[in-house]
Amino acid sequence: MRILYVCSELFPLLKTGGLADVSAALPPALRLAGCDVRILIPAYPALESAFQALAGQPQLHLPQLNGLGPQPAQQSTDCLPYLMLGQLSTDPTAHCYLLRSPALFEREGNPYLDSKGQPWPDNAIRFAFLGWAAACLGQGLDDAWQPDIVHCHDWHTGLAPIYMRELAAGDPPKAATIFTVHNLAYQGLFPRSDFDQLGLAPDLFSMDGLEFHDQVSFMKAGLQFAQQLTTVSPSYAQEILTPEQGMGLDGLLRNRAHALCGILNGVDYNVWSPEHDAVLMHHYDVDSLEKKAHAKAQLQTRLNLQERQGAMIFGVVSRLSEQKGLHLVHAVIDQIVQGGGQLALLGSGDPDLERAFLLAADEYPGQVGVFIGYHEDMAHTIIAGSDVILLPSRFEPCGLTQLYGLRYGTLPLVHRVGGLADTVVDATDTTLRDNTASGFVFGDFSVMGLQDALTSAFAMKPRAQIWRSVQQHAMRLRFDWTVAAQSYLALYRKVAMRS
Ligand code: ADP
Ligand code: GLC
Repeated sequence: MRILYVCSELFPLLKTGGLADVSAALPPALRLAGCDVRILIPAYPALESAFQALAGQPQLHLPQLNGLGPQPAQQSTDCLPYLMLGQLSTDPTAHCYLLRSPALFEREGNPYLDSKGQPWPDNAIRFAFLGWAAACLGQGLDDAWQPDIVHCHDWHTGLAPIYMRELAAGDPPKAATIFTVHNLAYQGLFPRSDFDQLGLAPDLFSMDGLEFHDQVSFMKAGLQFAQQLTTVSPSYAQEILTPEQGMGLDGLLRNRAHALCGILNGVDYNVWSPEHDAVLMHHYDVDSLEKKAHAKAQLQTRLNLQERQGAMIFGVVSRLSEQKGLHLVHAVIDQIVQGGGQLALLGSGDPDLERAFLLAADEYPGQVGVFIGYHEDMAHTIIAGSDVILLPSRFEPCGLTQLYGLRYGTLPLVHRVGGLADTVVDATDTTLRDNTASGFVFGDFSVMGLQDALTSAFAMKPRAQIWRSVQQHAMRLRFDWTVAAQSYLALYRKVAMRS
């Protein structure tokens, strides 16, 4: 089966969040399951520098049609995007289409935001071209490779299904479309005036089309027109059907509930395992957990925390955004420090939160360590060296850091929501007895809810044998991409048969 996998981030080349981790791990897992997968991604500088075009491959120019497909402003017509087939040095066994346009994609830094943190003003046309390129490949642009499935990820790719339908002009599209929602909170909303550049029939700017409160929504386009919808955990697939979590799209999602399912993300254990983590000076495994003490010392040194083996370290590795519930963590710093614990935080995002955590580090020198920024090695250092990894997210489509924590025997403490609810089992008398406990889970999204869970964690830590057996159980759990790949494959077969 031939799969065109369309995305806008790819670890380790370009990452703003878990989407990049998924794009790096799911395609190889699908290949192992027998699929022929090609990635389509914009030629951001980091991608371009790892790319080698296949010898003898022609440039694939996207058709310029009157009234259908992106209609860029006059001055950029000389920079019309084209596709180049090649390989990335990060995975030389796989083929990848790079969507090249210096005018649109040759920009350093964040793929969606400028240096001031504002969305690039031409995002609508940039990502319209990504959807258009996917649709053209889906409709046979590359004579040598016709995909069976076009698998789109998040709003950046949301226009692909409608462009495919329009290109097919009444015939069944040549490939089936799947749209995976990684986060419904990021919708790709643009002013109504941007609609004209998209090259779509005017009546598609309507309630049954792309219109969302008088704006254009790329997310809505994907949800409305893809044949099959998925999201990244079973619980989140249910939650987004409710007004509380549907972000205004729950009505549409309820209408399409028959076509929606949740498939849990996995972990790339080549990247995330304490046995061979390149960042750790001393490795450990489930049978040598005592060596995790070295990882703790490494973390304490790295973040200028007082070197106390007895201190219980609570780690955070996160985007600092409203979604992640980190204002709750800020509110319990006192409880953590008074209890003899330490906080190790890595993150960037909301300037108010950044400032608040930096102030806390000043206020509690040696007990609160904060690193503001994006730092891959520091993420590994914190996940390995902490005792507990905190994810008090308000909502969480899947969440990956709790899964990484489990693998390192760093017990997750999470809000019972989305993928967090699906992957962490609260330590209670019953779950400790039947050895299914893997962390701490709180239901009430409030400072008090988090405090209660912290109290449970503090109470369990001195019971060394129990703590260790929960750690060992957590470390033995597997969230393998091979399992997720089988679920996607079953879905591909189902939609391919229908179309
Ligand atoms: P989201 O995609 O919502 O940010 P996930 O838990 O799915 O949440 O994925 C987050 C990914 O980004 C993880 O791989 C995590 O380690 C990484 N990450 C988050 N913040 C940072 C940071 N400041 N530095 C390095 N890695 C980070
Ligand atoms: C999103 C979600 C996160 C999920 C990730 C990968 O960024 O916020 O929960 O794990 O995508 O699917």
